[in-house]
Amino acid sequence: MPLSSAPGKIYLFGEHAVVYGELAVPCAIEKRITVSCSESDDNSISIRAPQIGVDNFDIEFSKPSLKSHLSKVEPHLHYILKAIDFSLDFSQTDLNGLELVVESELPLGAGLGSSAAVSVATVDAVSRTCGLTHSLEQIADMAHKVEETVQGRASKADTFCSTMGGSVSIGGGSCDKLPFSNLPLTIGYDGGFGSTKELVSLVKHNKETYPFVGSIIHSIGDISTLGIAALEAQDLFSIGKLMNINHGLLSSLGVSSHSLDEMVWAAREAGALGAKLTGAGGAGCIVALDPDKSITTHLLSTNSCTSAFSVDVSKQGLIRK
Ligand code: PMV
Repeated sequence: MPLSSAPGKIYLFGEHAVVYGELAVPCAIEKRITVSCSESDDNSISIRAPQIGVDNFDIEFSKPSLKSHLSKVEPHLHYILKAIDFSLDFSQTDLNGLELVVESELPLGAGLGSSAAVSVATVDAVSRTCGLTHSLEQIADMAHKVEETVQGRASKADTFCSTMGGSVSIGGGSCDKLPFSNLPLTIGYDGGFGSTKELVSLVKHNKETYPFVGSIIHSIGDISTLGIAALEAQDLFSIGKLMNINHGLLSSLGVSSHSLDEMVWAAREAGALGAKLTGAGGAGCIVALDPDKSITTHLLSTNSCTSAFSVDVSKQGLIRK
């Protein structure tokens, strides 16, 4: 039975600016979504995904009914169903049915790339059940199409990073893997959810209203360029400083919040070399550079933080078993 797992990610630098073609640096983390898939012969697709609020979901194994279900289901089930739909279309399979079990270590909609991870792992597990093992580039591409179809607009950053692992650079039409370096990352989570679609629209509105917002976005791209040089030099102090400046610019775009700011400041005061929100913002997670692994207690003592944990950079992206 194919079992595919894909990691979540944080943004070291560059979220939002990447939507306007600027450089961004997402980085895969060792928190994963795992999808196991097997053929069944009861003419249905059954999905069990307890951590994403889907205990038992059954639909008929025919593509039209798959599409008609899309508007009614839980947010993350959209990604799973679309990924199944794409993979079946691609493989022209004569299977009779599928059984999927989805397990998640990631909080949902919190800036840790859960939608990309579930799309990558589902596309891979279903394709292999149909007898097709795609290249990693193909999987990243198919998963990106899943995100784009469900969300309306999505950069390639999350799905490429989740498929390839490590840190990657995205921008100006190209996606590249960066040399691997493990960073001492700690995540703080406020228990909330930020709508990527609404926050991307907010930045667009601010950019259209105030022409100088364009130069803020461009400066975030400059931070990513300097950040890549600092990563290559393993210069943690510079990486931390650039993360701090990046957070300030994201705040000025209007995508931070009281809880994210409170966690960012708590992380810095407890000794982090740098801290910023990660992902779309609004609510969700911050990421801190924490070489002494000493800030989780301090984060948890704030009113905003509901969970905090240290996490390794995931060297491997998609893992197949
Ligand atoms: O919060 P996430 O993981 O959906 O990240 C969104 C990142 C944005 O740059 C704001 C949007 C995008 O598609 O790149």
